[in-house]
Amino acid sequence: MLKKIILFLLAVFIIIQFIRPAKNLAARGPQHIEAIYPMPDNVKQIMRVACYDCHSDSTRYPWYNRVQPVAWWLNHHVDEAKGELNFSQFGTYSKQKQVKKLQKVKSSVTKGWMPLDSYLWIHKDAKLSPEQAKAIADWADQTIAQIP
Ligand code: HEC
Repeated sequence: MLKKIILFLLAVFIIIQFIRPAKNLAARGPQHIEAIYPMPDNVKQIMRVACYDCHSDSTRYPWYNRVQPVAWWLNHHVDEAKGELNFSQFGTYSKQKQVKKLQKVKSSVTKGWMPLDSYLWIHKDAKLSPEQAKAIADWADQTIAQIP
């Protein structure tokens, strides 16, 4: 009986390996936030390491994304994150929505609820130092000030 259960689970594991979500890997377009608003190089660097994997149209995938159900789980996070805030499509947002999202960006980093904890377990380099959080918050303020 136990042997049958194990064989069954193994078969399920093998089968699900063939069900892969489409990858989030689009080329950067003209609506990307860096194309529409100035962003200092240090802020670009932090956003690339800590935010764009989830909040943009282009994710840097880890090797374990090849294993299911890991890819489903990562894909779900990316979909959810992009649904709320997609820096690759920032230019398509109304001015009002841009301001609201930038205010949330500021509070997310100053209060420390972004990047997600589960991401930080693996991406230690994405944990923001107080200086990095301040750099993002200041940039968000400066950008809001430019939006009429
Ligand atoms: C591992 C994926 C992941 C990373 C990395 C990540 N986020 Fe998020 N973010 C999410 C998800 C999922 C949500 C939506 C659910 C929630 O609010 O928890 C979200 C929500 C947000 C929101 C709220 C948007 C709204 O309108 O409610 C802001 C702002 C935000 N993230 C900013 C950031 C910033 C800034 C960074 C980088 C410092 C970052 N996130 C890194 C996954 C991520």
